[in-house]
Amino acid sequence: MIDTISSRMSIALRLAGLSLFAAALFAQQPAAGRAGAAPAVAAKNLKVLAPTTDIAFTMRGFNAALGVQCTFCHVQGDFASDANPKKDVARKMISMIGKIDAAFPSSSGAYPAGYHEVDCVTCHRGAAKPVTETAKVYHNLNEFNGHFAPNSKEPGTNLKVLPADTLVHGEESIMHVFRDALKVDCSYCHGFSKPFAADDNPRKEIARKMITMVRDINTNFPGTGTYPLGKQAVTCYTCHRGDPHPESVSNKDYELPAEKK
Ligand code: HEC
Ligand code: HEC
Ligand code: HEC
Ligand code: HEC
Repeated sequence: MIDTISSRMSIALRLAGLSLFAAALFAQQPAAGRAGAAPAVAAKNLKVLAPTTDIAFTMRGFNAALGVQCTFCHVQGDFASDANPKKDVARKMISMIGKIDAAFPSSSGAYPAGYHEVDCVTCHRGAAKPVTETAKVYHNLNEFNGHFAPNSKEPGTNLKVLPADTLVHGEESIMHVFRDALKVDCSYCHGFSKPFAADDNPRKEIARKMITMVRDINTNFPGTGTYPLGKQAVTCYTCHRGDPHPESVSNKDYELPAEKK
């Protein structure tokens, strides 16, 4: 356990070092010199992005993350104008990222510069409206063999963040939602041949922090309840998509261009 934690810390430290290195490389590369970059015209109306931001690069990233064109957020021909209300929505999203991302020690730098565990891609994945429902249900070996855990209303005895009456046993329980969201079996967060109430697995505590984070994120969206109660704009699946380590611009495994394959 100590080993896991210290290796996570050293990964975080290494990442911090790497992104400083990347930032230094980036600084040597004039923005206007890169192929396809827009001419460097000073931005007139930046309210959340730093004046040093590579605007052309960042804006192309927004297009890709949401699967939209520039005019989704801008009025045609006047990028400095705030007449399109989506531009202010996007500003709120940029500020929200600053807060979410600060929860991850491996993130560094002020968005969009630096390394970020969570950015527009993490939730949007090429769509203007992020998804909240799991696309594919995870089934373990027991279920493959036809043995399904019975639904039971037996309450949890060591629930520190979920409401006391949360369904934690069986098909309909929130534990299956977690399992589907990360595409992992129960023992990923439990295990150690210990009862589910035990706190030996450090991932269980990470998951508790995630539940709290999901609640904080949803306070940005009107009409949502306190997770897992009520309607949610962002769930575990919104970021995880069947992956314990969600995707962002910084950590995505990119396809090489055809001529390099
Ligand atoms: C998802 C919304 C969104 C999309 C899509 C988008 N932008 Fe932006 N853009 C913004 C926001 C928000 C700002 C202002 C940021 C701030 O206030 O710090 C901005 C600012 C700019 C600015 C600076 C304007 C000024 O003078 O202040 C330019 C230039 C710009 N965008 C160009 C583009 C281009 C070109 C595209 C398409 C490749 C694009 N944007 C796509 C949201 C978007
Ligand atoms: C934590 C998840 C999350 C992150 C990160 C995130 N968004 Fe969003 N965004 C949402 C959700 C959820 C909605 C939809 C709200 C609704 O319609 O209920 C949304 C909606 C939007 C919309 C309005 C779309 C529409 O159809 O009106 C824009 C624009 C937008 N996001 C831009 C961005 C940009 C730009 C970034 C990165 C700087 C970003 N978002 C990062 C969750 C996120
Ligand atoms: C992503 C991590 C994660 C996964 C996967 C997961 N759990 Fe949990 N589980 C938790 C957390 C966190 C709690 C404690 C919540 C709290 O403190 O409010 C918990 C609590 C429980 C409890 C209540 C224990 C008690 O008495 O307090 C049961 C039972 C349980 N899980 C069963 C399961 C089963 C069965 C699976 C697989 C179908 C599963 N869990 C998958 C994170 C997870
Ligand atoms: C805003 C995006 C976001 C949401 C929403 C989110 N997570 Fe995460 N989660 C992450 C990121 C990013 C990481 C990886 C951090 C790292 O590796 O440093 C992570 C890591 C984890 C881990 C540790 C995985 C490992 O291998 O160590 C667990 C467990 C986890 N999340 C559970 C959950 C649960 C349960 C929920 C819903 C209650 C949830 N997450 C919601 C972004 C999110």
